[in-house]
Amino acid sequence: AVEQTLIVVKPDGFKRQLTGKILARFEEKGFQIKNLKSYNFTKEKAQEFYSVHKDKPFFGELVSFISSGTVVACILEGNNAVNTVRLMIGATKSFEAAPGTIRGDFGLGFTDNIIHASDSPESFIKESRVIFG
Ligand code: CMP
Repeated sequence: AVEQTLIVVKPDGFKRQLTGKILARFEEKGFQIKNLKSYNFTKEKAQEFYSVHKDKPFFGELVSFISSGTVVACILEGNNAVNTVRLMIGATKSFEAAPGTIRGDFGLGFTDNIIHASDSPESFIKESRVIFG
C-alpha cells in the first residue's frame, strides 16, 4: 500500500555533501518527495525526536550528535515506504551495513551513520510532527 515515511540526512551526511546522492537514490527507486527542508535540531527537539531511546546509555551522545549541525529532513511517499526505505538505508552500524545500502556504501560510523529513517508508521507520524509541525 502507498505509505509515507521520514528520512533525515544526519549532520555527518550533510557535512560530507551526500544529501543529493542520497535523495537521488530514493527518487530513482520511485519514491516521491512530499516535503523537504534543512533543519537544525535544538537539544529539546532532539530529545523529543529520539524519546523512545531516552533510557538508553547512548541517549546523550545521540541527542548531542543530531543537534551538532544542519540536517535535511524529507517525507517520502511510495509503495511500502517504511520498510523499503529501511532496507535501502541498511543496518544501524554502518561498518556492518551491506554494500548497496546507503550506510553500506557511504560510511563506517555508528552514532554518525549518515541517515535516519522511521521504523514504523507510528514513528513516522511522531517524528515528522517534531520536524514539520
Ligand atoms: P537511528 O536509526 O537514527 O536510530 C537511533 C540511533 O541511535 C541509531 O540510528 C544510531 O545512530 C544510534 N545508536 C544506536 N545504538 C547506539 C549505541 N549503542 N551507541 C551509540 N549510538 C547508537
